[in-house]
Amino acid sequence: MKKLPNIRRRGVSSSSAEWVDVRPLLGDRAIPMLITPKVPGLELGEWAKDNRVFIDELFAKHKALLFRDFDSDGIEGFERFVELASDTGRLEYKDRSTPRDTYGDRIYNATVYPAEQTINLHNEGTYWVTWARRIFFACATNAETGGETPIGDVGNVYDRIDPVIRDEFAAKGVLYVRNYNDGFGLTWQNVYQTEERDEVIEYAANNRIELEWKDGDRLRTRQRRPAVRLHPETQRPLWFNHAAFFHVSALDPHMRETFLTELGEDELPYNTYYGDGTKIEDDVVRHILGAYDAEKVAFRWKEGDVALYDNMQIAHARQPYTGERLTLVAMTDAYTGPEDVA
Ligand SMILES: [Fe+2]
Repeated sequence: MKKLPNIRRRGVSSSSAEWVDVRPLLGDRAIPMLITPKVPGLELGEWAKDNRVFIDELFAKHKALLFRDFDSDGIEGFERFVELASDTGRLEYKDRSTPRDTYGDRIYNATVYPAEQTINLHNEGTYWVTWARRIFFACATNAETGGETPIGDVGNVYDRIDPVIRDEFAAKGVLYVRNYNDGFGLTWQNVYQTEERDEVIEYAANNRIELEWKDGDRLRTRQRRPAVRLHPETQRPLWFNHAAFFHVSALDPHMRETFLTELGEDELPYNTYYGDGTKIEDDVVRHILGAYDAEKVAFRWKEGDVALYDNMQIAHARQPYTGERLTLVAMTDAYTGPEDVA
């Protein structure tokens, strides 16, 4: 009876751990967990086919997984891996905040945004009604310098934020206000991926977005969302919003000045308020950005890398870069959160 050494592997295929090494990428940080093949020539999709249970266990435990040094099969290989490592089909990028190109079926490039700018930590789609539980990145072309996609645990971000500020947001939620076709930022046609107002009206009705059509084909939208979400499995509170990200004070000073002079506060491409419509103070935004910064973990991409993040728990960012950079993104496992703020 004593000879039962290897059978208690909690359903994990006995080959899983034998084919790969699993360890933190950065010794002193919990995220991301690095998974590398022990043998050369192992293709990621091929390996994933037999190891879904193992991947899911790692994902549930570590939230952020980085697959490195597998044989990569380009965009198609990425697409296959995404399919094998997710439960539902890929989500579309509607209600966009940045322009994107498409590679294959619902595989996108990461935000097209000036290379010299930083993109702050954010979870994808916190202002949507339905968002992705899983977000995948692939490094197709690595930048010459920079271009990292830093990550941060928004459960920890929540813990770092002053409880007074947290409670105010938890009670009021966040109001996102956007303006389109004023000559700055995206057009509503690009954001909603249609030329038809009727389609925007239908999308808005289904996604709790308030529309205000203005003269000259201009549009203002308002969406009110909770600021804090509970993780569906662990019930841990998560700082899951774009309150600081889209706030006017988070713009670089030059852009902020231009926007405010040319447009005025009511016509900004985007801005955020407390859910009751009152202004979020600049120092509150600074405090929140500081909490994100303290959780920010950056590491250099290696071409062929594929990352899988829990989009509710792990925020991502982008560092400035030089040279060419192509990072692919896919979102899966759609999740509709409980309705808005009480
Ligand atoms: Fe993003």
